[in-house]
Amino acid sequence: MANQESAVLRLDDVSISFDDQATLTSADLTLEKGEFVALVGPSGSGKSTLLRCAAGLLPPDSGRVLFAAESLYRLRPADRTALRARRFGFVAQHGDLIDELTVRENIQLPLELNGMPDIGLRTGQIMRMLGLDHLSKRHPWQISGGERQRTAIARALVHHPDVLFADEPTGALDAASSEIVADLLVTAARRHGTAVLLATHDLRIAERADRVATLTNGRIVASEEVLTPDGGARL
Ligand SMILES: Nc1ncnc2c1ncn2[C@@H]1O[C@H](COP(=O)(O)OP(=O)(O)OP(=O)(O)O)[C@@H](O)[C@H]1O
Ligand SMILES: [Mg+2]
Repeated sequence: MANQESAVLRLDDVSISFDDQATLTSADLTLEKGEFVALVGPSGSGKSTLLRCAAGLLPPDSGRVLFAAESLYRLRPADRTALRARRFGFVAQHGDLIDELTVRENIQLPLELNGMPDIGLRTGQIMRMLGLDHLSKRHPWQISGGERQRTAIARALVHHPDVLFADEPTGALDAASSEIVADLLVTAARRHGTAVLLATHDLRIAERADRVATLTNGRIVASEEVLTPDGGARL
């Protein structure tokens, strides 16, 4: 069970409604440093909503989101933006690459924004790992959906964030590419201490997580240590 003092991220009693329809109802979730948690649940259960709220992109109607004991939505917007840029990586469900930039420029953006060193080296490494080097000069509209997804994953991890939020990052990928992404998420957690919160329907990738949290009726109803492998069936 997660210890609240060592938590890097904590959702505390979070509720969100859209048009009077409750999507999250007193949801609680804790992520520790280096912990890899898969978030599963049926379509429409609120996975993307929870990720956006946890990542500082959607204020809850009530409840708190704490990053290293700092209440995210009590920060001034500019401070929250700065914190997100340095501490978080976010892979949106439908990708959100910048069309005006090339694949390489999209990926290296977090390093530039944070004034980090070795931009060329770091960008090159993660592009190689994700099989993107040959697409360096292309723009997002000139690559496939799966390639866009891999570019978004590279961009979210290149600056070694404290927390990675990944919303169905393997939805458009074949089995081999999904496996590479799963390896990368595990490496980020183990080697760099990144806490990973992954929303997914893909059991093959969920079973690589340390823990599986299930979202039903607006709450995290189960938090299992182990998920039984079932050959990659979708939830
Ligand atoms: N901006 C919004 N305005 C109104 N309703 C919304 C908004 N965002 C989400 N919802 C609703 O909240 C519910 C949860 O949506 P969400 O996208 O979080 O589900 P999900 O679990 O990510 O689903 P999927 O697996 O299909 O991606 C849905 O009923 C959705 O229609
Ligand atoms: Mg979703």
